[in-house]
Amino acid sequence: MALIKWDAKLNVNVPEFDEEHKKLVQMINSLHDAMKSGKGKELLTKILDEATDYTLKHFVHEEKIMVQYKYPEYKEHKATHDEFAKKIVELRNLHDQQRLPSNQMLNTLNAWLINHINDVDKKYSPFLIKVMK
Ligand code: FEO
Repeated sequence: MALIKWDAKLNVNVPEFDEEHKKLVQMINSLHDAMKSGKGKELLTKILDEATDYTLKHFVHEEKIMVQYKYPEYKEHKATHDEFAKKIVELRNLHDQQRLPSNQMLNTLNAWLINHINDVDKKYSPFLIKVMK
């Protein structure tokens, strides 16, 4: 069973970002499934790497669009991306050293993604929807 069920309430209504957020949710669900079915560390590491890479690429994409359209809250938004990118690297290092409880990365990714979409990403919706028409 999926850990996160996509809900239309998570839409930011910028189609390319909604697609990327859905993909991130799918990746977190894959990680959850792999953990629940006791898949080997190698597979977990592979899925984790894909999820972290995709998250970082998504940040770069959002930042590019925010700069392109001169989003007024770009700096604040980018700061939250940078902070999380640092956190992912820290957790990833702990995972490599086998010092991270297996579900901590998953819970961190899950909680952060949902909170970030709801509290930070949604703030750009009215602005970007207007300027990207
Ligand atoms: Fe969708 Fe700001 O990350």
